[in-house]
Amino acid sequence: MSEPLLSLQGVSKSYPRGGFLDRMLARAKPFVALDNVSLDIHRGDVVGIVGESGSGKSTLASLAVGLIAPTAGQILLDGADLTELMRDHAGPWRRRVQMAFQDSSSALNPRKTVELCLAETLALRGVARAARRAEAHGLLALVGLGVELAPRLPHELSGGQRQRVGLARALAMQPDILFADEPVSALDVSLQAQVVNLLARLTRELGLTLVFISHDLALVRTLCSRLIVMRNGAIVEQGACRDVLDNPQHAYTRLLISAVPKGLAGRKDRPSSQNSLRGDVFEPPPTAVDHGVFTVQDLVERT
Ligand SMILES: Nc1ncnc2c1ncn2[C@@H]1O[C@H](COP(=O)(O)OP(=O)(O)O)[C@@H](O)[C@H]1O
Ligand SMILES: [Mg+2]
Repeated sequence: MSEPLLSLQGVSKSYPRGGFLDRMLARAKPFVALDNVSLDIHRGDVVGIVGESGSGKSTLASLAVGLIAPTAGQILLDGADLTELMRDHAGPWRRRVQMAFQDSSSALNPRKTVELCLAETLALRGVARAARRAEAHGLLALVGLGVELAPRLPHELSGGQRQRVGLARALAMQPDILFADEPVSALDVSLQAQVVNLLARLTRELGLTLVFISHDLALVRTLCSRLIVMRNGAIVEQGACRDVLDNPQHAYTRLLISAVPKGLAGRKDRPSSQNSLRGDVFEPPPTAVDHGVFTVQDLVERT
C-alpha cells in the first residue's frame, strides 16, 4: 500500500492535573487524554471517529492538524514529522491539514462578512487579490450557498449556512485532509442531512480525505468507509465501517450500537421509494451504497 497521508505513531497527549502546588510538588499525575494511539490515514479515506464524550476524539483531531503538540509519539504528514513542520509557522503544511469545527458561530469572526472571511483565507493561500472575489463566490457555490450571502455577517446567517461557510473556509485552503469535528451536532436534523450530503459530495468530487468525528452512528455509516471507535483516549476497535458496525468485536462498540434508537436499523431493507419521502435524498458515497439511501425522513424519525 502507498505511504499514508497522515500517520500517528504511538501518540499520547497528557494535561497537567491538580492545582499549582500539586504540580510544583509533582503530586498529581498528569491526565492522559490520548494514550499511545497509532493510526494511518490514506489519500481518499473517509474515516469516522466515534466514541463517548471525553474519549479523546477532539484531542486526536487537534494534534493531527497541529493545533496542539503531542506529549509523546510522532505525527507524520506524507512522511514528514509534523512537530518539525510546525516550527515553520507559515509553512505549507498548515494549508494541507484543515479542521472544521462543531460550533461554526464561534469559529467565524462576528465582524467579518462571509466574503471577507473567505478572501482572507484565500490570501493566506497566496491567491492574488484580483482573483479572490470570484474564487470566494466559487467556494460558496461549492458548499451550496448563493452569492447573495457574500456581504452578510455571521449572525445574519442560519446555523446551517454558518456551518457551510466554515466548511468553505476550510476548503479555501485546498487541504489534503479535512477534520470535521462534530460538524453537524449543533444543527437541527434537516440541516444535518444537508451538511452530511455536502461532505459526501466533496469526498466524491474533490477526492477529499475526510475524518468525520461524530457520535451519530447513522451518519457515520452513511458517510464513512473506515471507522475508529475510541474510549478513554485509546482506540478500542477499527476497521471497514460496515464490518465494525455489522459485526462489532468489542463490547464497547456493541454498547454504542445498541444505544442507537430502533427504526434506523431496518433502513437497509426499506424500498427506496420510502427513502425519498421528503424529496431530500441523501446521496451516499460509492463506499456506502450498500447501506441504502439516507434521507431527512430517517433523521426525523429519530427525534
Ligand atoms: N486543555 C485541556 N486541559 C485539560 N484537560 C483537557 C484539555 N483538553 C481536553 N482535556 C480532557 O481530555 C479528555 C478528552 O477530551 P476530548 O478530546 O475533547 O474528548 P471528545 O472530543 O472525545 O469529547 C477529556 O476528559 C477532557 O476533559
Ligand atoms: Mg470533542
